Amino acid sequence: MSTIEAVLGDITGEDVDAVVTAANESLLGGGGVDGAIHRAAGPRLARAGAALAPCDPGDAVATPGFDLDPPVRHVIHTVGPVWEGGDQGEDEVLASCYRRSLAVADDIGARSVAFPAIATGVYGFPPERAARIAVATLRATPTRVTRIRLVAFDDETYGLLTAALAG
Ligand code: APR
Repeated sequence: MSTIEAVLGDITGEDVDAVVTAANESLLGGGGVDGAIHRAAGPRLARAGAALAPCDPGDAVATPGFDLDPPVRHVIHTVGPVWEGGDQGEDEVLASCYRRSLAVADDIGARSVAFPAIATGVYGFPPERAARIAVATLRATPTRVTRIRLVAFDDETYGLLTAALAG
């Protein structure tokens, strides 16, 4: 049984077995949380990502965490949907990001995982709808991960995740 909690902070400070990054298909890094994780993990992260790219939206792949400190063994790279109004299957792609990230965590033996609010920044996914999908999907997905941390970078996202968890 997994515990799922919402926290407010910077995911690069998480002390877990795996941190999830909201990547793009190239896995070369970018802005937002992906940029923060790549800066903290160092240039080897992009090289390891490039070897696994492209990563389709909704899919997830794992690399080592390299220079992340606290030392995190794995980075799970997942590619969220670009929001196009909600009738292009975005909800299912986002749900797939959480489902596939847990499956990859199981494959690599990670028991604690930190997630950012995937797709709710540059990709424009409505944060309240994303929070509901994240919590519902994580609760519905069988996994050996026992500790899940949903890391909000701002108060609004933290409030939405907390509300989704209370529902
Ligand atoms: N820790 C935790 N969360 C963070 C951090 C951080 N250091 N920095 C940003 N965030 C939050 C954002 O505030 C947002 O709530 O991560 C969430 C996801 O936003 P983005 O990082 O913009 O990710 P996304 O919307 O999925 O867009 C992905 O942006 O950075 C590029 O390479 C990435 O092309 C990809 C696209």
